[in-house]
Amino acid sequence: MLRVAVVGSGPSGVYTAQSLVDQDPGVLVDVLDRLPCPYGLVRYGVAPDHEKIKSLQNNLRTVLEHERVRFLGGVRVGAEGVPADRLRELYHAVVYCVGAATDRHLGIPGEELPGSFSATEFVSWYSAHPDSVAGRFVSAVRSAVVIGVGNVAVDVTRMLARGATELSPTDMPQAALTALAASRVTEIHMAGRRGPSQARFTTKELRELGALPDTDVIVDPAELALDPAYADPSGLPAPQRRNVEVLRGWAERPRTGAPRRIRPRFFLRPVELLAEGGRVAAVRFERTAPDGHGGVTGTGRYEDVEAQLVMRSVGYRGVPLEGLPFDAGRGIVPNLAGRVLREGGVAPGEYVAGWIKRGPTGVIGTNRPCAKETATSLLADASLLVRRELPNDPAAVLRAEGVEPVEWAGWLAIERAEAELGASLGRGVVKLPDWESLLAAARGSVS
Ligand SMILES: Cc1cc2nc3c(=O)[nH]c(=O)nc-3n(C[C@H](O)[C@H](O)[C@H](O)COP(=O)(O)OP(=O)(O)OC[C@H]3O[C@@H](n4cnc5c(N)ncnc54)[C@H](O)[C@@H]3O)c2cc1C
Ligand SMILES: NC(=O)c1ccc[n+]([C@@H]2O[C@H](COP(=O)([O-])OP(=O)(O)OC[C@H]3O[C@@H](n4cnc5c(N)ncnc54)[C@H](OP(=O)(O)O)[C@@H]3O)[C@@H](O)[C@H]2O)c1
Repeated sequence: MLRVAVVGSGPSGVYTAQSLVDQDPGVLVDVLDRLPCPYGLVRYGVAPDHEKIKSLQNNLRTVLEHERVRFLGGVRVGAEGVPADRLRELYHAVVYCVGAATDRHLGIPGEELPGSFSATEFVSWYSAHPDSVAGRFVSAVRSAVVIGVGNVAVDVTRMLARGATELSPTDMPQAALTALAASRVTEIHMAGRRGPSQARFTTKELRELGALPDTDVIVDPAELALDPAYADPSGLPAPQRRNVEVLRGWAERPRTGAPRRIRPRFFLRPVELLAEGGRVAAVRFERTAPDGHGGVTGTGRYEDVEAQLVMRSVGYRGVPLEGLPFDAGRGIVPNLAGRVLREGGVAPGEYVAGWIKRGPTGVIGTNRPCAKETATSLLADASLLVRRELPNDPAAVLRAEGVEPVEWAGWLAIERAEAELGASLGRGVVKLPDWESLLAAARGSVS
């Protein structure tokens, strides 16, 4: 048998495992994750009010329950974990599917002021990621600015505008629900540095903002009109054209006087976060203008937007994993069709898939063909790889070396504990928010 370790149980890791066992009956796969819970950003990124997308976890689950696939949670690979070299000794091949764990920075003054957060921090908090640090995200906030116009910015904007009635049925942790239910945020600006025809959000996600209860979406037609494509969007590709049409509809819609307002803004480049009393109080933007090539130039005119909360949602970034090469410029592991490249040459037995292979873009489904390409590369190398003698069960070896993996039964125990917690709170499933409670639930099942 060809024994493969897949590091990371997000979509790319699970789709890699699926592709390997589907393509070859002689493959055994262990899917390792540093968390005791599987599914990566599907569990810890997809917004809690997107139940339908969240339910993709059921498809991923089927793969992790396959007879030749095994989940080993709570196993970190790299620094402070199982060294990459050691993993190579336990498996014929290792596929790294570790995603892009951190956020990009703006590099402007005031970015680190209290009250300024990355979307990653906010998302991790409302998703109950066990590494998340409780922040005073919405307390004493009237006006918030979300920087960036991608789908994560739309998620964050929507979560700031949702009320307790809509959030309570989700699996959001209780502390986040309590804080968001008490929120007094009334103004949410979501600002792009380029024009509406260059925004990265998708139309389905954008439209949802217009359907939120007790919320007006206010768009300034003059700001939209700065985009040369606004007057006649017919030449735009369909996704961008639809975005412009939705925004145009909002610009023409009368306000209802709803208590909350979302303001999509464009051609505003953040240049500084301004402080008052040691906390963020406003974002200073420079007004930009199209440069005729899809980019923008500064105009030297500035606008300050009041904000007691700033959410920087300008994309994710891959982090280096000790023992693997890393392209710091692109935030990826250099690779050729998924085969890791070391000093320009292919490193047999080491592969990548997902965001760490391509960079932090693409929806869940994008990872499926990406994973298939990697699995195909690996299987093409199989005759070379399988010649090596391996120790018996890698999980037993890890245990002997002091690593205590959370196996599938442990994860099922976490699921049960989350259902019980929800029932005790009069809600549905409610996520356990910290390492202690997750591991207590998982280990409880084993003893
Ligand atoms: C906030 C947010 C919301 C999103 N919402 C949607 C959506 O609604 N719909 C949609 O289609 N797409 C959505 N996406 C995109 C989608 O989540 C990604 O395309 C997808 O998750 C990328 O998959 P991945 O497997 O490469 O990475 P991830 O999902 O990030 O999985 C990486 C896994 O690797 C593990 N890991 C990392 N380092 C190590 C290590 N050293 N050792 C062991 N394990 C490790 C992590 O714990 C994690 O489980 C969203 C993305 C974000 C950021
Ligand atoms: N529901 C869903 O399907 C869903 C939900 C969430 C995420 N996702 C996916 O996950 C991926 C990541 O999403 P994302 O929103 O994090 O990233 P993204 O789509 O790359 O958007 C990043 C945004 O940040 C802006 N930006 C970057 N640097 C900036 C700077 N220095 N100053 C100001 N603005 C800056 C970008 O503007 P420019 O374009 O000008 O660079 C862009 O508007 C995407 O593929 C997304 O579709 C999907």
